[in-house]
Amino acid sequence: MLRDSFGRTFPYIRMSITDVCNFKCGYCLPNGYQIDKSDNRKFLHLDEIKRLAKCFTELGVCKIRITGGEPTVRKDFFEIVKVLKNESGIRKVVITTNGYHLDQKAKALVESGLNGINISIDSLNRETFKNVTGHDRLPEILKGINNLQDLGFKNIKVNAVLLNGINSSEKDFQSWSKFIKDNKVDFRYIELMQTGDNLDYFKKYHVSANIFKNYLNKNKWIHQTLGRDAGPSLNYINPEYKGKFGIIAPYSKDFCKTCNRLRITSRGDLRLCLFGNTGISIRHLLQKDDQLNELKDLILKQMQFKKESHYLELGDTGSTKNLSKTGG
Ligand code: 5AD
Ligand code: SF4
Repeated sequence: MLRDSFGRTFPYIRMSITDVCNFKCGYCLPNGYQIDKSDNRKFLHLDEIKRLAKCFTELGVCKIRITGGEPTVRKDFFEIVKVLKNESGIRKVVITTNGYHLDQKAKALVESGLNGINISIDSLNRETFKNVTGHDRLPEILKGINNLQDLGFKNIKVNAVLLNGINSSEKDFQSWSKFIKDNKVDFRYIELMQTGDNLDYFKKYHVSANIFKNYLNKNKWIHQTLGRDAGPSLNYINPEYKGKFGIIAPYSKDFCKTCNRLRITSRGDLRLCLFGNTGISIRHLLQKDDQLNELKDLILKQMQFKKESHYLELGDTGSTKNLSKTGG
């Protein structure tokens, strides 16, 4: 079992399989993904991904979240899901996606055996959605959610980054409330995080998730305390609603206490935290099957370097320029 010096365990890996994204979210890639021609290291190959997952299975990991950039832009995306599901020993495979072409992909996603999907939707208002992401694609995403549900797919979560004056009004909260009333979808607001690239945006749009917390308290939502492995989101239930609400507030005091995940970047670096500079490349140990034990040792040794907190409140964004490399 992976354990750090603060007693936290890590049953969960977030693995980015590409930095490429086709959206232009204002807080992440406002000018879209830019190809860096001087950088010819390619993203992790299928066989490297498989070895990585096998190794983490042996270290007690039972869940992998595939992230990007936008993971579904990879041509071998479905092959990756299938290999993780069928050949790596990992029990739960889930993805985070921007929902691009979700209406068309829903069937293949269900058939791939995926165990869950997180879809980023910053607003249920079509115009606002378009302004934030640079794409008028809200209808196809909502249709995609319907398609998934029609096919019996269960574990659907929707995330929005909370943006002051953009999607932070009582009216916005109410439209989400309406959305999850008869719809078994978990909706979570993520507090905007400062990165190396988005300082001006952050200053303009960051707002504490307390405004949403206050709304939930006022409207009789009940804070649910979950088990140890629940991760750093606060969850709220209401018996009159099929879906749940949640808050991910990285600047809150105890956020890091429940950290249960490690990250792998699309180039095969192990990152101990979304923020901060602690991370090393493990790709050289993903080249042959017989490197498994060496890789396990290296990962286990790294665990002692995981810090207690991200120190974000000190304005320290570490090496994180934006979240498209580590998948949020
Ligand atoms: N702050 C908060 N959330 C972010 N995401 C991307 N960049 C940021 C940021 N700076 C979110 C995306 C998506 C998830 C992968 O991370 O909106 O929901
Ligand atoms: Fe793409 Fe996600 Fe960044 Fe938006 S937040 S630009 S969807 S990687």
